[in-house]
Amino acid sequence: MKVSVIGAGNVGATVANVVAHGNFAKEVVLLDIKDGVAEGKALDIWQTAAINSYSTTTVGVTNDYAATANSDVTVITSGVPRKPGMSRDDLIGINAKIVKSVTENVVKHSPNTIIIIVANPLDVMSYCAYLTAKLPSNKVFGMAGILDTARYRAFLATEIGVSPRDIQAVLMGGHGDTMVPLPRYTTVSGIPVTEFVGEERLDAIVERTKKGGGELVKLMGTSAWYAPGAAAAQMVETICKDEKRIFPCCAWLDGQYGMKDIYLGVPVLLGKNGIEKILELDLNEEEMEMMNTSAGHVRGVMKVLDDMKLF
Ligand code: NAI
Ligand code: 2OP
Repeated sequence: MKVSVIGAGNVGATVANVVAHGNFAKEVVLLDIKDGVAEGKALDIWQTAAINSYSTTTVGVTNDYAATANSDVTVITSGVPRKPGMSRDDLIGINAKIVKSVTENVVKHSPNTIIIIVANPLDVMSYCAYLTAKLPSNKVFGMAGILDTARYRAFLATEIGVSPRDIQAVLMGGHGDTMVPLPRYTTVSGIPVTEFVGEERLDAIVERTKKGGGELVKLMGTSAWYAPGAAAAQMVETICKDEKRIFPCCAWLDGQYGMKDIYLGVPVLLGKNGIEKILELDLNEEEMEMMNTSAGHVRGVMKVLDDMKLF
């Protein structure tokens, strides 16, 4: 399997590093526009192979898409991250143009690749890549739900005093403050989370999760990369190994949840064909209302993209 990662910044380099350590791909190609950065980071990662006993080769290139040719999976992280005080949506003016041009180059050299979008604003950048790539929607989707769910699981694990591994959860909607964590679908090894955490604390954890990205931007002056990189790498691994795992991902909806023509976070089955199935949960009225609010927000940002007249 060949995996390409576009953008060798904080998230891109982390994706390449985690994928390489997983030892399931033959080759990882890291590409950036900044001279030497991808080459340097890829070489540094490759030099961990002897220490950490894996064989995946990691190669870095400056804007040379020929090196990405025939990738099975491509992760697009290129784009500016937010600074304190910015929302993810503020990035659209710059990132839409980057994602469009990068996607054009990616599909030119890898017409059959699966594309995972990471750049923000995530839901609308997935839409932007979909419009550009002209690939079926099962092959173009975004990473956010695994990250947001991992934050939720981490907060719950700390609160309850258990391993985050034993917390199962579903989180849906857009990648922003309107995301929809679902306590009704949250368990600790199959036991409802409400048997461990009272309503007030659970509400506080849900609220912290919704603002989880912003909390890190405030602390670091830029957005997070370890958990985002690990989340995207988990999607790559699942696809490369055809594992048929269920994760929340940003998918193109075609009638599911009563919605059409929008990218939004929903639980999906991931395998070698990308999104092999979108799972439709029986949401109650309150949950559906939150999904509709989140979708309304995403549609507003989609309109900003449409008004940019890039397509
Ligand atoms: P970064 O600034 O560390 O890295 C971005 C890299 O993209 C830079 O090295 C830059 O040179 C490169 N780049 C810019 N234009 C390019 C082009 N045309 N072709 C190739 N490379 C190009 O930023 P970071 O922290 O890695 O974040 C990247 C993006 O991912 C941001 O938009 C950020 O908001 C988003 N993000 C999304 C998350 C999610 O959950 N979906 C989580 C974390 C970050
Ligand atoms: C995050 O949630 C900024 O989307 C990025 O960390």
